[in-house]
Order: sequence, then structure tokens, then C-alpha cells
Amino acid sequence: MSRHQNIGTGRAAANMALIKYWGKRDTQLYLPTTGSLSLPLTQFVSTTTCEASDDGDVLYLNGVKATTGQHQKAWRVIQQFRALTGQQNSICVRSHNNFPTAQGLASSASGLAALTKAANQYYGTKLAPHLLSMIARQGSGSAARSIERGIMLWHKGRHRDGIDSYAEPIQNSHAILQKLQLAFVTILTPATEKDVSSTVGMRLENYPRSIYNKWVRQNTKDLKEILEAFHQLDLPRIGDITERNFMRLHLLIESAHKPIRYWKEDAPHILGRIRAMRQSGLPAWATMDAGHIVTILTTRTASITVASMCEDFGTTIIHDLTQK
Ligand code: DP6
Repeated sequence: MSRHQNIGTGRAAANMALIKYWGKRDTQLYLPTTGSLSLPLTQFVSTTTCEASDDGDVLYLNGVKATTGQHQKAWRVIQQFRALTGQQNSICVRSHNNFPTAQGLASSASGLAALTKAANQYYGTKLAPHLLSMIARQGSGSAARSIERGIMLWHKGRHRDGIDSYAEPIQNSHAILQKLQLAFVTILTPATEKDVSSTVGMRLENYPRSIYNKWVRQNTKDLKEILEAFHQLDLPRIGDITERNFMRLHLLIESAHKPIRYWKEDAPHILGRIRAMRQSGLPAWATMDAGHIVTILTTRTASITVASMCEDFGTTIIHDLTQK
């Protein structure tokens, strides 16, 4: 029987999907309709603590008491530890992000992954990373890919109970990242919080079935191809698949019965600039999650030039993906 610690702490980096997750085949267990693949946003980190509370369950996000929606995600994670350990005492969760939240920056991914790690320490459960990934998945799908750093593959899985749907680094992940010397550049531009959350935006009933099924087939194909490209260290191919994958996601989202748009007006200009950089020989490919922030996949060597060429759009942040 595990015993809880006085305080549990967890840290996790956000992640950016190169092959996107968009839709659940099981909305209770958070089982995806396709596999997905991401790289860590190493500069965007959440730190979370869990400790006993005399005041009922409570959650603070960046020092502010959280709303019910944010509560639900966190409590789906805590609930699993309570079920595992039988410990029902009230707890206080404090989570800090060192980056802006709810702008398509997967703050829930790093936050819930950090919470899962903190709870693993607090409850003394000592679960292996793939089990933590399964727990984090049920807080927020993309959190499954933030338990570990690396080229993270979230398996779609086949089982109904979700036992085979977790994320893990691909084989030789660290060596591949070292060889490719990859980096991300994120361009932070001001915006209000997005109006349609990913959870709502990805509901299958939002989309004409044939269009959604076509996206599933294409996403599955993109995943297979990008895995090959990583193992062959073929950066231009990785970049091309990344860019087309995000564009197809946004086309799908715009083809919803009630179209949703996460892009902001400056996005086409940023994408045009990235294309021009590529034409001039720089390795640079764009991707966007369900938000307006553009992230550029590039190399460490090119990242400084790429960042400086985008400074007129917003604050640029370089993420070195060779860091462990
Ligand atoms: C566009 O993981 O935030 O970033 O599972 O409902 O919490 P829930 O959704 P979430 O969706 C992320 C969608 C995405 C693509 C991706 O990260 O793969």
C-alpha cells in the first residue's frame, strides 16, 4: 500500500504536435481516432505541486483559484490516483506556467503532465512513464505526450479500455534529435483567450462524416511517413509533412458544420515569410495547434536567423530540442 508524501512536485514541458490529434473515439477515456507525434517546447514548462488541504480540494493556476473547467481536467487525473491508492483526503494543487496560457500553446498538456508526475510522487505510486502517460491522457489528450521529452509518439491503441493508448519516445529518439539538431521557434503575438476550446472543437459531431474520415486516413498516412522520415534523418521530408499536416487540420476545422477559425489575420503573412525563408535555403517549416500561435520547425544553427527574421511579428522564443 502506498503512502502519500507531504508534498509532490512535477515538471513537464509543453509539446507541439507535428502530426495532430483531433478527435476522440471514446470521450470518457480520451482515446484518440488517430495516433499523433510531437516534439517538446523546451522553454515552456509547467511546475506543479500537490499537498494536503484542510479546505477541500482546491486548484491554483499561476496563483489564481481555477475555474470549474480547469478543475475538471485536473480532478480527472487526481481521481485516478485516488482510485489506485484508496486515499481520499482533500488536496491542494498549485500549477505555474512560465508561458502564456490558452493561446494554442498546449498549456493544459504541460500542466496536466506536471500534475500527473506531482501526484505520482505525492501518492507514492511510483508508476512507470507509460502508465503516467495513460493517466495524463485522461486529463487532456495531448498531456499524454508531455510526460517525457523526445520525439513522442502517442499510440492510438486498439483496446476499448485504453490500455494500449499512451505516448512514448520513438526508438533512438534522443540520438535522432542530436543528429538532426532540431529547434523550434515560437512567435508569441498578443491575443485574447480562444473562444472554442480544443475539446469542443474536436467533437466528431461537428464534422461531416466523410470529410472527417478522409482526414483520419490522411493523418494516419502522415504519421507513418514522418516516422520513416525521422528514422532516415530526412529533415526536408519531416518539415514538409509537418506543414501539410497542420494545414489539413485547419482545413478540417474550417469545414465543420459551424466553421471554427483559430488563425488570426497575421498568420498568412507569417506563413509567407517562412516559405520565403525556405526558398532562400533556410530550413523552416510552420505548424499551428488550435490557437493563433505559429511555431517554426528549424535547426539550432538556423534558429537565430529564423527568429530574427520573424521579430516584426511578435516575441520569438527559441527551443533547443537537443536538450535532454
Ligand atoms: C490541436 O489535448 O487540448 O493541439 O484532449 O480535449 O483536452 P483534449 O484536447 P487537447 O487537444 C490538442 C489538439 C491540438 C493537436 C495536438 O496537440 O495534437
